[in-house]
Amino acid sequence: MQPKQIALVTGTTSGIGMLTVVELAKQGCIVFAGMRDLSKKSDLEELAITQNVQEYIDYVLLDVTNDDFIKQTIAYIIERYGRIDILVNNAGVSIGGFSEETLEEDWRLSMETNFFGTLKVTRAVQPYMRKARSGQIINISSISGRFGFPAHGPYTASKFAINGFSESLRLEMLPFGVYVVLIEPGAFKTNIWSKNVENMKLRTKENSPYEKFLTNILHFTDKLVTGASDPRKLASKIARITQIRQPKLRYTLGKGSFIAVLGKAIVPWKWLEKAIVQQMRK
Ligand SMILES: NC(=O)c1ccc[n+]([C@@H]2O[C@H](COP(=O)([O-])OP(=O)(O)OC[C@H]3O[C@@H](n4cnc5c(N)ncnc54)[C@H](OP(=O)(O)O)[C@@H]3O)[C@@H](O)[C@H]2O)c1
Repeated sequence: MQPKQIALVTGTTSGIGMLTVVELAKQGCIVFAGMRDLSKKSDLEELAITQNVQEYIDYVLLDVTNDDFIKQTIAYIIERYGRIDILVNNAGVSIGGFSEETLEEDWRLSMETNFFGTLKVTRAVQPYMRKARSGQIINISSISGRFGFPAHGPYTASKFAINGFSESLRLEMLPFGVYVVLIEPGAFKTNIWSKNVENMKLRTKENSPYEKFLTNILHFTDKLVTGASDPRKLASKIARITQIRQPKLRYTLGKGSFIAVLGKAIVPWKWLEKAIVQQMRK
């Protein structure tokens, strides 16, 4: 029998991370579910019970911005199993707002969590995968890692950074049999959208020169979220990707994402920006 795979997923209190833990467990992996606040584990615990996979899941305290937690968590997993086969860098925050009106702390929080969090956890796991000459590092980026939508600067910058890092790392790790994979989701129905919109509203005060754009962007976001894809499908796809022997670098998944990437590749940027600015000004 194949030995069970050992997986670590970050940011698992809700959404895509939580669902991915369960999908990996359903495949028979032993999954370490990282969360920065273990008192928030009840949703995942309940889901695991309904799916009958609770025995495959271990909960670990992991704030991806905290070096000590990262070190302790990796050491704990290595001590128990001697390896990590799958790392899913999922933890993320979505900080929206118009660049002029956002605070430097918005950009720092976004970069610290989304980019440096991914970087730090990866670098902590990397030596074990390299020595084992196998493994998968799955970085949950976004369509915002390919396309800079207005009022999404801090989030976009962090996801572009993840994409650049992942491309370089993929080439560095391939000679060691380790595959780095980018997941580029479009819109999926999770809590992240409300947090993103919250910051946009907070930063754009009444009578701001961006007020009208904000109204239109909020209207667009509302429609986008209503029609957003089911995150369970994404989680199940991520779990299936971990079983591919030689996965691709990029998986662009969910509503709108493929069109956005294709549009950017074939439609002249001049036309794209005209269409977007028209929508903002309506
Ligand atoms: N939903 C979408 O449409 C969409 C589209 C593209 C990409 N994504 C990406 O998918 C990933 C998951 O997002 P989601 O949609 O599932 O949103 P979510 O439900 O808000 O999940 C985000 C998770 O990240 C955790 N997190 C935030 N900061 C953390 C930190 N410093 N350390 C550890 N965990 C932290 C959150 O924990 P707390 O509960 O403690 O805050 C939560 O568990 C993100 O990277 C996001 O950018 C989502």
